[in-house]
Amino acid sequence: MSDAASQVVYFYDRHPISCEIILAKLRASRGHLDGLRPEELFAHDQDHYGGLTATDELARAAQIGNGSRVADFCAGLGGTMRYLAHKYGADVTGIELTPARVAGARELTRRVGLHDTARIVEGNVMEVPLPDASVDAVVSQEAFCHVPDVKRALGEALRILGTDGRLAFTDWIANQPLTANDAQLMWDGMAIQPLRSIPDYRSLVESVGFRVISAQDLTEEWGPILKQRLAMYQRLREDARQAGTPMGHDAFHESYIRFVDLIQERKLGGVRVVGAK
Ligand SMILES: C[S@@+](CC[C@H](N)C(=O)[O-])C[C@H]1O[C@@H](n2cnc3c(N)ncnc32)[C@H](O)[C@@H]1O
Repeated sequence: MSDAASQVVYFYDRHPISCEIILAKLRASRGHLDGLRPEELFAHDQDHYGGLTATDELARAAQIGNGSRVADFCAGLGGTMRYLAHKYGADVTGIELTPARVAGARELTRRVGLHDTARIVEGNVMEVPLPDASVDAVVSQEAFCHVPDVKRALGEALRILGTDGRLAFTDWIANQPLTANDAQLMWDGMAIQPLRSIPDYRSLVESVGFRVISAQDLTEEWGPILKQRLAMYQRLREDARQAGTPMGHDAFHESYIRFVDLIQERKLGGVRVVGAK
């Protein structure tokens, strides 16, 4: 495995949201895990900013509807993939690098009975294990920031999309290059690769062969969301400390605090890009 992939796996193996934590919370609140419904997971399994509303926005942009064939790049625990299958009736394949996330996504999907229409495949989005022209839409949420060669991943999206297929994703952006110190902190704590500005992202997506429909700045929206997430991570860390279980990754907490500051300072931000083949 490359250094970049190992750093991603190291980070997600210690991430404060995991399949085990989600199931433990549900077991505590409902007493057992029998007959779990997809909606019961949604408060816990959406590992991106803005929860279901953000996914609805991507679904609209990518024109996802009943029977749409969708690939979710960097699907994590599969929250997005299950939601698109459940709410929109889409047939979704998630591509995910971290084996523990793949196993967690499979377990959660099986428990809510969506395994026929939401499946996860272990793989790298720079080399997608799906045939040419096999999907109608490619989505991704806050994950290309981990990918060493985003151009290659976008090329894979173009390859697997059929004619008029749609690409819709959100990601981190940098309005100016980070200081060497901040860049190192983001890499050590969260496996973040060098980032780009919105104009550079637009050019990158076009250079692969997509027509860019929109590239919307989400920095303003993300500000309050990220402060809430930081508070949530701090709560989870304190819960783990009190329970005497592993508290996760110190470098993650340090870098997340700095990340939230960088967003408030507008040095980092977010974008939603929508493109068509
Ligand atoms: C922030 S999580 C997003 C999860 C999911 N999109 C969601 O919204 O719930 C990013 C995920 O991307 C995965 N990832 C990072 N680099 C990848 C790559 N090159 N190929 C496939 N997955 C990757 C990580 O393992 C992690 O699970």
